[in-house]
Amino acid sequence: MLNNLALPTGYQLQDYEIKKVLSSGGFSIVYLACDQDKKLVAIKEYLPTSIALRTNGATVLPNTDDVALFRHGLKCFFDEGLSLTKIDHKNIVRVLNFFRANETVYMVMQYEQGQSLQDYILGRTVAIPEAFIRRVFAELCNGLREVHTQKLLHLDIKPANIYIRLDGTPVLLDFGSARQALSENMSKNAPSYTPGFASPEQSYDRTLLGPWSDIYSIGATMYACISRNSPPAASQRIKNDLLVQAVVLAKDQYSNDLLEIIDNCLHLDYLARPQSVFSLQKKLLELAPEPIKKTSLMHKIVDVLNKPRSLSNKAGSISKLS
Ligand SMILES: Nc1ncnc2c1ncn2[C@@H]1O[C@H](COP(=O)(O)OP(=O)(O)O)[C@@H](O)[C@H]1O
Ligand SMILES: [Mg+2]
Repeated sequence: MLNNLALPTGYQLQDYEIKKVLSSGGFSIVYLACDQDKKLVAIKEYLPTSIALRTNGATVLPNTDDVALFRHGLKCFFDEGLSLTKIDHKNIVRVLNFFRANETVYMVMQYEQGQSLQDYILGRTVAIPEAFIRRVFAELCNGLREVHTQKLLHLDIKPANIYIRLDGTPVLLDFGSARQALSENMSKNAPSYTPGFASPEQSYDRTLLGPWSDIYSIGATMYACISRNSPPAASQRIKNDLLVQAVVLAKDQYSNDLLEIIDNCLHLDYLARPQSVFSLQKKLLELAPEPIKKTSLMHKIVDVLNKPRSLSNKAGSISKLS
């Protein structure tokens, strides 16, 4: 982490006081700060480290050769912030303020407490429950529907850009449009997005981009939840598709229904994927039909009789059978 680039603790950035660095990627730095009412906020600063540096003061200065590129990225960052200010949805990061300073741009967001889905996945030693996956992604779909209604696409959905709040609700972060704009113009550098999560049309034919492109990334993110791995990069899949389908990979761990939803989202052919977030959400919310034997009254009675303690402890348990 390039700490020397970050604004120091105690720095007064307009109405906000910097507390610490929350994250430092190659394109931006996210700070924890507090406003004049001592309320915590997260502030994202546009700072693409491969083409710009912070000078002795706080000012950000692009390399002489990269001024045009820096400005282009800055404009996209700005546009992203402006678009986000229009969206007020509990599953989308809330932008509170947006301003220019230090020759760069700052986006002030509501500070969310929790952890990224990436950290959540990596921190677990047992499989993520199906109910968690269905709920989190169905809720996320609520936010994404709003994004698509505003005629925007996210295009950088992946575990690191989904935040799980302390109460378990998901929030979509990082509309990485600036990062994308830069990576398109920086072919000498490795692509800045994690390739396994981006749809094939994102790098091959951007005229085909649509809600189905975000749906591919949602599929890839659910795939990561069940396998702890991203699918192979779409560019690789197009040449030689080595993706192990979810229905094969996690056959006995999750319902076939969920695994098929994931595989459907991950079709290379965009027309074969769910075409709208609404249809995907509907599928996630339709619970997998349980095998007949588990729902039969007889089996439930046998189950209960096999567990005499729960019968005596919970007077109401018999009524649940009906
Ligand atoms: N509003 C926020 N509240 C709390 N943490 C945040 C917030 N926004 C970003 N972060 C933290 O910063 C990290 C990077 O943010 P992100 O928007 O993905 O920027 P980038 O990927 O461009 O560095 C997130 O994974 C999260 O840990
Ligand atoms: Mg990010």
